[in-house]
Amino acid sequence: MLAELQKSGLPIYQNSRSKKLLLEAPYMLKGYGEKNVLQMSELYEDSSHNDKHENVYDVYRGIICDQDRELFERYKFQYDITVIHQGQVGFECKKTSGHYHGWESNKKHSYPEVYEVLSGTAMFELQKSMNFDVKEKNDIKVDDIILAKVEAGQAIIVPPDYGHCSINIGNGDLVFSNLAYQPCEIFYDNVRYHHGLGIYIGKEDDKLKFKKNDHYKNLPTVKIALPVENGSLGIKFNQPVYKTFLETPDKYNFLGNPDKYVDTIMKMFDIKESF
Ligand SMILES: [Fe+2]
Repeated sequence: MLAELQKSGLPIYQNSRSKKLLLEAPYMLKGYGEKNVLQMSELYEDSSHNDKHENVYDVYRGIICDQDRELFERYKFQYDITVIHQGQVGFECKKTSGHYHGWESNKKHSYPEVYEVLSGTAMFELQKSMNFDVKEKNDIKVDDIILAKVEAGQAIIVPPDYGHCSINIGNGDLVFSNLAYQPCEIFYDNVRYHHGLGIYIGKEDDKLKFKKNDHYKNLPTVKIALPVENGSLGIKFNQPVYKTFLETPDKYNFLGNPDKYVDTIMKMFDIKESF
């Protein structure tokens, strides 16, 4: 059976048995990738009890239809969809490979990204560091950690300078899209040296559990937040990002030119608690 991903605003369906996505023509993909437990073993606190070949997540890159191609190319944006499957690796909920984004030499801040949840419930772990490209693992300074809980139909902007990882904290698959500035360089090494970001997020007896990652020397207070809309930056809940980009592409200018938007983006997190 096929379930339509209605929140995407696109003719995209998930097969309920295989969990794979199907795109209806004329939409097409540029690339597809899968990650299993073995490929991510350095990023989990303990993956030793899982089947090494167990699928963790699938990425559908560069979803587009021909008539939109000129616009995406002009802005240098790419739209991808990720499916994080249901389940745990050790006590942790399944997650993506955490990373930081690069920046242009004439800019102060690294590139942000839009994350939109299409189905399920996400916790996006956002970890600020201004020196994430250090080569020695003990030299990283983590300035802030935000855990944003995002439901289907909601979206966030990953702020500039924040490394990020997406965690499936719901009871089924988590499907989310991202819209990002395509020339952006991606840095995975620092997160891998530390065996993940600062907080491991999992479940015990069906209750969420947070555990500090001891591979970091010092971690700041952790904030738990809910997302806040900002229509001027193209973030209106239940309005698909792909469609909003086609209608009002300039709203997403911040993706390639983040410096003057940092304060506005930080106001889009409603901090509910901290620990
Ligand atoms: Fe990213």
